[in-house]
Amino acid sequence: MIIKPAKRIHGSIRLPGDKSISHRAAMIAAIAEGVSRITNYSTSADCAATLSCLRELGVRIDRSGGEIQINGAGKDGLRAPGKDLDCGNSGTTMRLLAGILAGQSFTSTLTGDESLRSRPMLRVVEPLGMMGAQVSSSDGRAPLTIHGRDSLKAIDYELLIASAQVKSCILLAALNAKGKTTVTENEVTRDHTERMLKSFGVPIETGSKGEHARFAAVTGPANLSARDVSIPGDVSSAAYFIAAAVLLPESSLEITNVGVNPTRISFLSLLATLGFIEVTDASEVANEPVGTITVRGVARENFLNEFESPLNIGRLEIPQLVDELPLLAVVGSQTRSGIEIRDAKELRAKESDRIATTVENLRAMGAEVEEFDDGLRVDGSTRLRGARIDPRGDHRIAMAFSVAGLIAEGESEIGEAECVGVSFPEFFDLLESVIER
Ligand code: S3P
Repeated sequence: MIIKPAKRIHGSIRLPGDKSISHRAAMIAAIAEGVSRITNYSTSADCAATLSCLRELGVRIDRSGGEIQINGAGKDGLRAPGKDLDCGNSGTTMRLLAGILAGQSFTSTLTGDESLRSRPMLRVVEPLGMMGAQVSSSDGRAPLTIHGRDSLKAIDYELLIASAQVKSCILLAALNAKGKTTVTENEVTRDHTERMLKSFGVPIETGSKGEHARFAAVTGPANLSARDVSIPGDVSSAAYFIAAAVLLPESSLEITNVGVNPTRISFLSLLATLGFIEVTDASEVANEPVGTITVRGVARENFLNEFESPLNIGRLEIPQLVDELPLLAVVGSQTRSGIEIRDAKELRAKESDRIATTVENLRAMGAEVEEFDDGLRVDGSTRLRGARIDPRGDHRIAMAFSVAGLIAEGESEIGEAECVGVSFPEFFDLLESVIER
């Protein structure tokens, strides 16, 4: 894919449904009693992998128009799959389904593509083992074979890694555990599972513990009742458009029906300190806050004048903009003093080693970058130049560097650009529709 420099971004767009919320809606509807209808389900390959795994587990799923109907099998009604469950590239599919499968009275195996099979899974194997499921892995990685039990043990678990996927895995397993399972997190991660369980009728307690920690608790066994869900537009997909609009002077962009869950909008809040970003038409859909985001571009001189000292991103912020960090590194290169991102070792365990891929591609575009074990530092006031970008199959790297290509001098070429389909197949077409050159 060739990306040419752009003058500005202009228009109004609506985005496909949020990937994180779509996974949860489909999985939770699959174990509810009754038929749930889901609209604006994510068009990502990741969320398609979730549906195909659920079908393999005996769940009937029909599509009509833009709507998906899920015939809930009930909490104990899934069927032993006839083959391994292929989660593709999707960590969320694997880690959340592991939680559901731990509480089923059959054995199943979760696998995925080469990237997913190289990612750490002990983080879910261990707590599920404490709950009484036996999960075997290949040296801590997928394939995971789950010997489920229809009655698990409730646990009290403090997350060792700030991960919404691990938290969600345990909360989903807790539906089939006897007693109260509590998960405590020392850094706030996205809370879509808690919200979705609540809207399917599961009594779930959530709250603060001390200054930063939070907990969520489910008392099992718990039954779920079907409901209709409208999925808000994906704020992580919106981030690329927002960054492009802020970075290109004279831009004006409106994105309607976007999820603005407080645990997901740290990127928005940060960029709002650089340029004009407004959220209007706030409402709540299926227990998730939704709004319209309006962005206006900032003159380059003003942008450069922001932040006398480098922007510092650390432990408490990381989980709330984890997927936006490569993009934030690109944005940081355009501020006066640059950006330093630390405590972000988790980035090395994503679809690619995102510290390495961000550093490598920023350097290819002429930025001065220092790499740390747990992050990176990018010099500010950088004039990026067009380059050949290798995203290493990682959708978020391909999209972050497409934005970099729009503000660079000269053309850029994104290799393996089709990898954007993992989260956002419409990305390039939609981007082209709002670009003015
Ligand atoms: C996700 C959580 C995050 C994020 C991923 C989606 C989710 O992963 O990076 O893209 O839907 O729960 P971790 O929870 O492992 O950090």
